[in-house]
Amino acid sequence: MAQPDLSARKILLIVGGGIAAYKALELIRLIRKAGGEVRVVLTTGGAEFVTPLSLAALSGHPVRQALFAPDEETTMGHIELSRWADLVVVAPATAGLIAKAANGMADDLASTTLLATDKRVLMAPAMNVRMWTHPAVQANVERLSGFEGFHGVRWVGPDDGEMACGEYGPGRMAEPAAILQAIGDLLAGEAARPLAGRRAVVTAGPTFEPIDPVRGLTNRSSGKQGYAIASALAALGAEVTLVSGPTALPAPVGVTRVDVETAAQMKAAVHAALPADIAVMSAAVADWRVDGVASGKIKKAPGGPPTLALIENPDILAGVSAPGSHRPALVIGFAAETADLEANARAKLSRKGCDWIVGNDVSDDVFGAEGNQVILFTREGQAEPWPRQSKTEVARQLADRVARHFETR
Ligand code: C5P
Repeated sequence: MAQPDLSARKILLIVGGGIAAYKALELIRLIRKAGGEVRVVLTTGGAEFVTPLSLAALSGHPVRQALFAPDEETTMGHIELSRWADLVVVAPATAGLIAKAANGMADDLASTTLLATDKRVLMAPAMNVRMWTHPAVQANVERLSGFEGFHGVRWVGPDDGEMACGEYGPGRMAEPAAILQAIGDLLAGEAARPLAGRRAVVTAGPTFEPIDPVRGLTNRSSGKQGYAIASALAALGAEVTLVSGPTALPAPVGVTRVDVETAAQMKAAVHAALPADIAVMSAAVADWRVDGVASGKIKKAPGGPPTLALIENPDILAGVSAPGSHRPALVIGFAAETADLEANARAKLSRKGCDWIVGNDVSDDVFGAEGNQVILFTREGQAEPWPRQSKTEVARQLADRVARHFETR
């Protein structure tokens, strides 16, 4: 099997307390030989089996052992350490470490790091066969595997074989070469799906505001741009909820579509899809709805046409952007302007409180044209003009830009 290339990849290795801890030394050597960088967290149990000195010598970095160690915390705090990594590997993963991780316990550096990380975790279990097959351990493994997004733990091994304790069966830690391969596979998979584990909510299409059971107010939005964005985010691994007004478009592959009609329904569906990391509000929400929708069809009357009283719809984008525990880390709005694009887009950015605005100069655009020329305005004051391109390409570029944003954070 080809050796994985781990150049410039950062692995945080948690070494638990089991006889298999000696294999962690070989694993460090293999990761470094493949080009990767390794930092080690050693549990108290682990230190009974391997010395911090061997781990430090092989990894080329001091080994972290204590949660509350002022000298260690000043070089790299434990939260920073948990985010520094591209992947967290637990080898050996003992029944105790698995139980703590499965139940959100944080009472030492290893378990705290596992809770604090925003990266994938790969565990290489190692324990006695009766322990591994115990329903309590199996329930913990199942629980960890089932967590959503990057919280879902991945596994390598355990292997079947003779154990240090003399018994036979599953429980032996996977060999270092197999763990290296699993690391390579996981990182390669994550690289192609940089938004894996991120949740996104996208609005698209028009809204339809009823006048009576058969009539309504709507607009000509096709929903194409929003659907393309939902599809592009999903292609990069995001878990996407597309809240769509009435359109003629099929649901993009791998996207959960929630169909709505009115702005009020759209707002409720967006909030139900939170928490999310990313919100892209591309719907053409009707500015007004009819006050007092008639319960029956309004009849033509000799007195002339009815007068419709309108009331303003809620601003969904402003609501999602408002500070609060469920505010997505990145909120993106759209601005189609016929004049003074930059000034209007900037004003909209601050009025709505979003992070980016995709500005679109529609002054000399034929409405509904395939091509789209946009400028991305950021809250930090950047203005990035993008080349004239199709709506699909705009969506792809936006999804890439979103992925880059999360990578560099
Ligand atoms: O204010 P304006 O409609 O020009 O703002 C456009 C942006 O605000 C788009 O991102 C649109 O989806 C969003 N919006 C919204 N709810 C509204 C009106 C606009 O989310 N009621």
